[in-house]
Amino acid sequence: MDIASLSHGLIEVTTWQDRLLQWLERIYASPKMYQWSLGNPFTRWITKRRTQKIFDLMSGFVYSQVLLGCVRLDLFKMLHQRPLSLQQISLQTQLPAEALQRLLLSAVSLGLLEYRSHQRFGLGALGVPLAVHSGIGAMVEHNHLLYRDMEDPLAFLNNAWRGSMAEYWPYAHDAQAAERAAQEKFSRYSDLMASSQEFVVQEILGSYYFEEHRCVLDVGAGKGRFASELALHAKHLSIKLFDLPPVLELAKATFQSKGLIDRLDLCPGNFLHDPLPQGADLVTLVRVAHDHPDAVVQQLLQKIHDALPAGGTLLLAEPMANTYSQGVDGLTQTDAYFHFYLLAMGAGRLRTPEELMGMMRKAGFMGVEQVPNNMPIHAQILLGRKHKCLP
Ligand SMILES: C[S@@+](CC[C@H](N)C(=O)[O-])C[C@H]1O[C@@H](n2cnc3c(N)ncnc32)[C@H](O)[C@@H]1O
Repeated sequence: MDIASLSHGLIEVTTWQDRLLQWLERIYASPKMYQWSLGNPFTRWITKRRTQKIFDLMSGFVYSQVLLGCVRLDLFKMLHQRPLSLQQISLQTQLPAEALQRLLLSAVSLGLLEYRSHQRFGLGALGVPLAVHSGIGAMVEHNHLLYRDMEDPLAFLNNAWRGSMAEYWPYAHDAQAAERAAQEKFSRYSDLMASSQEFVVQEILGSYYFEEHRCVLDVGAGKGRFASELALHAKHLSIKLFDLPPVLELAKATFQSKGLIDRLDLCPGNFLHDPLPQGADLVTLVRVAHDHPDAVVQQLLQKIHDALPAGGTLLLAEPMANTYSQGVDGLTQTDAYFHFYLLAMGAGRLRTPEELMGMMRKAGFMGVEQVPNNMPIHAQILLGRKHKCLP
């Protein structure tokens, strides 16, 4: 919802939709109706599902801590090798069996682990991805910083940039971060981004056809994980990377280790102050816009437009907000995470595809469209083209 459109005054309820929703609200609130719906085979599942959802919201913190406990004990990798009994896990983790049992039973109830024969524990359906994708475990560990900052949610809303997350992301607060912050800080966030990028890379490479392009400029490239996998995927492409100087040093090492250094052109700079390099016919902007306030994103889109040749393309990919009307059954639950994550980090925000497309059009892009992809929870993808006609 656009903040500018929120009214400060008291609004009279006028539409039939409002009246219908108020009527439904009264029905939901009635204890008699609750009992009736539980007794009715057609409505029972709705009421049970709602109750379960409320319980899940209330217990979410415990669920996250169970997950973090399993990650810290390396349980998922351990049980991926072979199922183990409580005593065997206790021996390996050095945790007393009685206490460990609580963690294991909780993990079973959450679908992270499951029972196997001979009283052993194995991986549950939700534990398998954690065993094979180290990036998920890295994000679970990292989220701990966010949850620490959010311990008092209202104090957090009043003072979001005082916590550990703000300290973790130096550029999100300091336009001179590249000169002032220690290299270790850039390595730390770049490692996290590289490890969590696996799923985003799959979404982009599986949704867009790169054959028509010749040279790609990845802006905010991080350690170069996306760009190096793109280089392996589309072998005809030459690659330019733009990021803060301390980060591009890390990207250089990535390209060297994959034998791709001959196809790489490193362009260190700060998009707040510097123009972007020319020469690429495709610019990619992956998980960058949501870190920055509107004015910075608009200026960056303008710089990308200026750097592209006529007919050049911008591909923007990042997690995006879902429309307000999708309700609790849609994907909106992921919005809550990103709204708070981006607030704790800095001045960026989660935007809807429509908002970003509007900003791209304002920067001069034509034919702006959303590219459908399989798993929008990781990233949604937008495309825009620079006009081919002479100004
Ligand atoms: C969230 S990370 C995303 C990295 C990578 N694209 C990915 O998806 O993993 C944002 C990247 O933008 C870079 N960045 C942030 N502000 C920048 C600026 N003012 N100029 C250049 N790069 C910047 C950061 O250094 C970081 O590598």
